[in-house]
Amino acid sequence: MTTWNLKGTKHHVLICNGSSCMRKGGEEATQAIRNEIANLDLDTVIHTTRTRCNGRCKDAPVVIVYPEGTWYKEVTPEVGSKIVQQHLAGGRALEDYVIYEYDQDGFIAPEKTECTVGVSKPLKRSI
Ligand code: FES
Repeated sequence: MTTWNLKGTKHHVLICNGSSCMRKGGEEATQAIRNEIANLDLDTVIHTTRTRCNGRCKDAPVVIVYPEGTWYKEVTPEVGSKIVQQHLAGGRALEDYVIYEYDQDGFIAPEKTECTVGVSKPLKRSI
């Protein structure tokens, strides 16, 4: 058990370790992301968390970057390393792998995104 002091953290990376993502290389993606963070000496500003299913299994392995709210699909070890280099260290998302981005109105799917739309949640009320 560890309790990290997260003051000064710039990014939180949620790495899906649910069963679908793990079947499609989630462990290797997890290790690649964490190794690249260490290689670039970014441990003090990037926090990673292994999660259970994030509800986008068709896109496995899934990785989510906050505070931007960028959801990535099909994260191989190579893509994971690029997420660290290009997005987390360089500030530019890997557009070819983005399935959702966050804007003022909530999550949006970029126009060129090719992925399963998925099941819509029933509308009860808007926030
Ligand atoms: S197991 Fe990763 S999104 Fe479902």
